[in-house]
Amino acid sequence: MDVYEAVTSRRAVRGFLGKEVPRETLERVLSAASWAPSGSNIQPWNNFVVTGEPLAELKKRATGRVADGVLWDDREYVMYPPAMKSPYRDRRSAFGNERYSALGIAREDWEARQRAAIANWDCFGAPAALFC
Ligand SMILES: Cc1cc2nc3c(=O)[nH]c(=O)nc-3n(C[C@H](O)[C@H](O)[C@H](O)COP(=O)(O)O)c2cc1C
Repeated sequence: MDVYEAVTSRRAVRGFLGKEVPRETLERVLSAASWAPSGSNIQPWNNFVVTGEPLAELKKRATGRVADGVLWDDREYVMYPPAMKSPYRDRRSAFGNERYSALGIAREDWEARQRAAIANWDCFGAPAALFC
């Protein structure tokens, strides 16, 4: 695979197999990621890999909080501009439409949307979670 193919075949995955990821694979991915550029080369990241029982516990607590009605904590930093303008607002809404219609969820079905949000905190079934 060349770099163009790698870049253009990248996609968001929202349903993983529970198959264990070998430690060597995780280490390989993280050492490749450590080549990422950073301003003034300060490399301002810490990576945490969670698998097995600790991940199961984390997923249980996180999905439990959402189920209890705590959808989001206050964000540590702003991810989206508070008043999003076109074309970004339109893209986000087109994406929402596509995603929820693919999942068969109606716009006004708040509960089903919440269930879909819970999948985020279950790491979409992934057996390893990387926090950067
Ligand atoms: C900063 C950032 C945050 C994201 N957060 C989520 C998320 O919370 N849940 C999710 O399912 N996808 C998330 N995504 C994935 C985007 O929705 C996805 O990359 C976008 O729709 C483009 O689709 P593609 O990655 O399949 O090309 C995030 C992507 C980025 C870059």
